[in-house]
Amino acid sequence: MSAPKKLFIKTYGCQMNVYDSERMAEALGGEGYVETKSADDADMILLNTCHIREKAAEKVYSELGRFKGLKAEKPDLKIGVAGCVAQAEGEEIMRRQPLVDLVVGPQSYHRLPEMEAKTRAGEKVLDTDFPEEDKFEKLKNRPKAKRGPTAFLTVQEGCDKFCAFCVVPYTRGAEVSRPADRILREAQDLVERGVREITLLGQNVNAYHGAGPNGDLTLAQLIWELDKIDGLERIRFTTSHPNDMQDDLIEAHGTCAKLMPYLHLPVQAGSDKILKRMNRSHTAESYIRLIERIRAARPDILISGDFIVGFPEETEEDFQATMDLVEEVKYGTAYSFKYSTRPGTPAAERPQVDPAAADDRLQRLQALLTRQQREVQDSMVGREVGVLFEKTGRLPGQMVGKSDYLHAVHVADCNRDAGELARVRIVSSGANSLAGELIG
Ligand code: 5AD
Ligand code: SF4
Repeated sequence: MSAPKKLFIKTYGCQMNVYDSERMAEALGGEGYVETKSADDADMILLNTCHIREKAAEKVYSELGRFKGLKAEKPDLKIGVAGCVAQAEGEEIMRRQPLVDLVVGPQSYHRLPEMEAKTRAGEKVLDTDFPEEDKFEKLKNRPKAKRGPTAFLTVQEGCDKFCAFCVVPYTRGAEVSRPADRILREAQDLVERGVREITLLGQNVNAYHGAGPNGDLTLAQLIWELDKIDGLERIRFTTSHPNDMQDDLIEAHGTCAKLMPYLHLPVQAGSDKILKRMNRSHTAESYIRLIERIRAARPDILISGDFIVGFPEETEEDFQATMDLVEEVKYGTAYSFKYSTRPGTPAAERPQVDPAAADDRLQRLQALLTRQQREVQDSMVGREVGVLFEKTGRLPGQMVGKSDYLHAVHVADCNRDAGELARVRIVSSGANSLAGELIG
């Protein structure tokens, strides 16, 4: 038997790319590839890319440039670009960077084995179709290897919302939900291999409406089905749109013990004028009322969000409305970005905000969000939380895991293994993590 070929995958961007990279590694595993952690000894390099902001896309080209020397040394090395830059730029990538052999969009990963074979025959290959078949069904099953305690599982892909700034509806395509039985099978398999916590992924995950035995299931109904799996201890989901936050999902946050008290619910901005121009189809007020209903169902839920500052035509007053909304909601964690023009999206054509003003707003917003994040983290001191241990810490006897609220927690003198869920009392709060002690 010939020595296995080595595959190096570098993943950019969101958690869905992390999931996709795993599946691509599995697909090429069937072709005799094993993963390597270093590009230097790889026979194939795949960059799984993100196109959400300009910086993310530009990083890909600078990374590709760095492989020039490697390719000169190893002419058999194949270089591929996958993910959303591949979808958005297609052939342009090979024109701009001729060392690229393969370009594959997010909906075509199941075709990777054939594509790889063609590159070995010296061809350059490109596939950015949106095929009819379910790529996840066509991808090889995950090998039965043991896994860490947490895993991502894609249940829905694509988005029909068309926010005026966003490339996702163009790069990932229309909203598609995977059938429930396939998801449940995959979840069961993950649990048999050691997974205790599953994060359900979708660009618009709460719009999930996958086929079930008696019609489509909502995300809440899917969660209740997952709840029945013995050995699965925790369920999370991300990312949600406020308009798809249905009653049964809100209720599940109060009644499903396995559903963790953490919700990523991006609002993007606090000014109704800007929300309208973003095509968000909700107002600041309706978002705040929604958060109130969610907190009524689960008072301790930690709310996370995404924000864009400097969206075209955002005034200082509009920005102030975002700050006011943040003050009112009190986020446990949040991600904030300066608006980045994405060619082909409606907002790209509009009058842009002065970059210095946008920078200044981003700094002010981030200072407020950091303060809130710290306050929420500090408020955990003295409380009892569940912690799922993931790995050993740097100190002897120390274990590190995530709390129900997704805070990193260090526990000293901890006689527990990775994959164990324990009750922990939080004793102190540091810069980026909490310290706790085992209860009982
Ligand atoms: N510019 C800046 N941020 C963006 N996001 C999406 N598109 C853009 C853009 N063009 C942010 C949104 C989204 C998150 C994933 O990325 O806040 O929720
Ligand atoms: Fe992009 Fe999310 Fe808006 Fe869809 S809902 S267009 S993924 S920001």
